[in-house]
Amino acid sequence: MKGQFAGRMAKAQKSFIREILSVAQDPDIISFAGGLPNPAYFPVEPLRAAADKVLASDGRNALQYAPTLGYHPLREFIARRYAHKTGLQIDPDEILITNGSQQGLDLVAKILLDPGDEVILEAPSYLGGIQAFSLYQPHFQTVALHEDGVDLDQLAAAAAREQAKLFYALPNFQNPSGITYATAVREASARILHENQVFFIEDDPYRELRFLGEDQPPLSSFGRERAFLLGSFSKIVAPALRMGWIVATPPNMDKLIIAKQAADLHSNYVSQRILYQFLLDNDLDAHIAGITAVYRRQRELMVAMLEECFPPEVSFTLPEGGMFLWVRLPESVSSMDLFNEAVKANVVFVPGHPFYVDGSGQNTLRLNFSNTDEAHIETGMTRLAQALKKLYGV
Ligand SMILES: Cc1ncc(COP(=O)(O)O)c(C=O)c1O
Repeated sequence: MKGQFAGRMAKAQKSFIREILSVAQDPDIISFAGGLPNPAYFPVEPLRAAADKVLASDGRNALQYAPTLGYHPLREFIARRYAHKTGLQIDPDEILITNGSQQGLDLVAKILLDPGDEVILEAPSYLGGIQAFSLYQPHFQTVALHEDGVDLDQLAAAAAREQAKLFYALPNFQNPSGITYATAVREASARILHENQVFFIEDDPYRELRFLGEDQPPLSSFGRERAFLLGSFSKIVAPALRMGWIVATPPNMDKLIIAKQAADLHSNYVSQRILYQFLLDNDLDAHIAGITAVYRRQRELMVAMLEECFPPEVSFTLPEGGMFLWVRLPESVSSMDLFNEAVKANVVFVPGHPFYVDGSGQNTLRLNFSNTDEAHIETGMTRLAQALKKLYGV
């Protein structure tokens, strides 16, 4: 209608986390809120050297328009790494380079969702996913998460529904909960999705940030026909490069290419070239090992502080990787109230309820352990425990 925004904007919301991050700008505030990698481990010098090399040796090509799928050697690198790390065999032409994996969420939603289609979400789920899907006006169904992954009975019931179109899953170190699916749950989930002809997005930006336990095969490796496997260099190199990818089989990829061309023709080509040069000239495994060693220590300290300073009614997950852990307060405690008290004590986190689309999770919260050094984790967690005590006397 004249002078009005499109209907699809009616339910879409601004990112709650970005609003919170604006509070966290104050340098006195210790923030466990953002999902930021630790900038101390950004490879600044190696990226500068890679940029110099690309621009000096092949600047005119690197600055030209480029193919939609992305730089072929970079896609070969990603395919080789999947084969080596997970056994998953993919052709480089089954990889589309995207503007971060966030764009992957939008593109897949764009090619699949009509208004009213059902999207099955884990509860809780990634806010950026919920936001991306919301613009295509689906109905959301939610399925519970247990320590070893999605509730299979609930997934089977949701997938069997006529309108069920897409399952959105984060099987490794989920954002926000830190939960990882066991291999058997992956296999069973893939079977359920296959039987019910439901597409799925496997959003996997944290896969390589494992610091405990064993690697698990991608859920997509148990059935690729309707799978969109999303990856990203944001957490293992640097998020500002905005380099992510989608793995999809040819018929699905054909549709993605149309959506990608309409959105931006192709991802930033000079960024792809610089990233590839960086990957050629440096040892990515050694770089990631440096990051995970630090995240592991930070995660262990945060868990130790939760055990020492918080009452036993407060429970939390024990992530084997990634950047987040998930805290459940006693039922009667509101994490939003705790947030307001914590801000006064100069510490912030993300209250859990926005990660649920059904208004539940009022007593949950997400803590990020990647972006704060150990001294600040100790101080921040002490402040948080005091805020909880002040508010509820627990
Ligand atoms: C689960 C999940 N998916 C996607 C993204 C987006 O990442 P990217 O920087 O690759 O767009 C994030 C970022 O935090 C995330 O946590």
